[in-house]
Amino acid sequence: MTGKRITGLLLTMCMLLNACGGTGREEPKTSIRIGISLYRGDDTFINNIRSILEEKAKEYEQENGIKVTLDIQDAKGSQNTQNNQVERFISLGCDVLCINPVDRMDASVMIDRAMNAQVPVVFFNRQPVEEDMNRWDQLYYIGVDAKETAMLQGQMVVDLYREQPSAVDRNGDGVVSYVLLEGESSHQDSLIRTEWSIRTLKDGGVPVEKITGGIANWERSQASALMEQWLGSYPDTIELVVSNNDDMALGALDALERAGVTGVNVVGIDGTTPGIEALESGKLLGTVSSNKEIYGSAVMGLAVSKALGEAEPEEYPLSNGHYYWTPQEILIRPMEE
Ligand code: GAL
Repeated sequence: MTGKRITGLLLTMCMLLNACGGTGREEPKTSIRIGISLYRGDDTFINNIRSILEEKAKEYEQENGIKVTLDIQDAKGSQNTQNNQVERFISLGCDVLCINPVDRMDASVMIDRAMNAQVPVVFFNRQPVEEDMNRWDQLYYIGVDAKETAMLQGQMVVDLYREQPSAVDRNGDGVVSYVLLEGESSHQDSLIRTEWSIRTLKDGGVPVEKITGGIANWERSQASALMEQWLGSYPDTIELVVSNNDDMALGALDALERAGVTGVNVVGIDGTTPGIEALESGKLLGTVSSNKEIYGSAVMGLAVSKALGEAEPEEYPLSNGHYYWTPQEILIRPMEE
């Protein structure tokens, strides 16, 4: 081997060692960059989570003296846009990504890019399929157990019915006639919430009968339009509105208010800021609220640890090495005397 080639080889080895942290005495990071992509920036629940993420990042900075830069992008419902955002985050040198996938069945392109660049990903709220999650041990998912949510929603009505049947069977005919507002058809939460909420009502002995139902894609305005139609088609019939989320529940309440109809019980899910306001003003019967402080802390806590190259934080125990489920609780308006 010539002297020139040996020098070249040594140079390459030095460069490689440097890239991997060199001597092993790596300087601790003093700043980290986190790329966050939201499936839709105008979603109420996602906006609530976003605020907590920003809050937690600031808290972390103040407590630990590490600069945390958040780059938050809105994918506006396009998976293609989100794939490009992921690429940009990586080229900007993000240490970790927090992704709220647009299409949870189509996370593979984002995962490929993150794996190639060795950038860990914390997914949240829209759960990628198991096959994708199992591709790498640096992929995480934080969310709420949809079956638990639904059972709590059903239980809230069951408890009320047992305590005071007339509060649920409003016209006293022995049947509780309900309508159902569903979220996006491809979302894990819609399918599971619908199934288990109604099953819990039936198993709990509430004599429910479905009048009709429809998909309103989590949106207040779509739900309001559906409810308006139903109030026209089934006048004086609806006693209960079971909604897959708070925003659609609020849409139903908007339509009830416009039609001047009172006495219909409406239940939601999320515990969003407007949802809780409607509960406090007595319009919404109840909601199932995920603990957003814990939700946001788990996403940020995990993201920061991964960005710093540390192990997963123990406060948020992972099931199957990938999943953390946020606790949730029933919030119900005080009973009328
Ligand atoms: C659900 C939530 C909805 C909506 C949706 C977006 O978990 O209940 O309100 O935010 O996620 O993925």
